[in-house]
Amino acid sequence: MERIAIAIDGPSAAGKSTIAKLIAKQLNYAYIDTGAMYRCVAYYVKTNGIDIQNEDLITSILTNIHIHIDQNNNVFLNDQNVSGLIRSDEISMMTSKVSSYQAVRTFLVEQQRLMALSGGVILDGRDIGTVVLPNAQLKIYQQASVKTRAMRRYKENLERGMEADLEAITKDIEQRDYQDMNRAISPLKKAEDAIEIDTSTMSLQEVVDEIMNLVKKVGL
Ligand code: DC
Repeated sequence: MERIAIAIDGPSAAGKSTIAKLIAKQLNYAYIDTGAMYRCVAYYVKTNGIDIQNEDLITSILTNIHIHIDQNNNVFLNDQNVSGLIRSDEISMMTSKVSSYQAVRTFLVEQQRLMALSGGVILDGRDIGTVVLPNAQLKIYQQASVKTRAMRRYKENLERGMEADLEAITKDIEQRDYQDMNRAISPLKKAEDAIEIDTSTMSLQEVVDEIMNLVKKVGL
């Protein structure tokens, strides 16, 4: 079977990374979490005391940022393992801001395309099917209601031993949806040729099975 590129886009907390990891494992593909790369930029901005509004300064420090994702999906920023550190709600909100800057997007999209060159890859994000890999053989747009997504994130935070306030998480998701869908550059939107899957009432296994069926159809 041909080793294809699979793009999974969709709003925050729609379960993209969970699904992408499961599919990658079944197919023995590399999984590339592009959101983690944007999160690294936000984390760098925060830890270096840079003003998040200062687009020019952020543009000029991008060359200091070296991101590496290993085979176990650990995320390294300049050789520091930041896998857990980049998941806080504060970093999520900052990431939504830095990801609206053109230079940040150009910097990361270039790296994502290189990572995907060999095929046998699954990338998740907001602009994979529309911008990063417009020729991906399979494009999924993974949706879920705000309520479902907030509840999932709430449970995830509790499991991680993090603070969890359902109302705050719901507002946070709504705000990030708004920012991600309304930014000028590469806003979140379904690619014309993407297949939409609403996972609100589906189990993980059902979503995986549906995507695996689609892979079989296009990958033969
Ligand atoms: O998928 P995530 O929640 O880790 O993404 C964090 C933020 O990064 C999200 O608010 C939008 C942004 N992002 C993006 O603009 N483009 C991508 N390909 C991936 C993420």
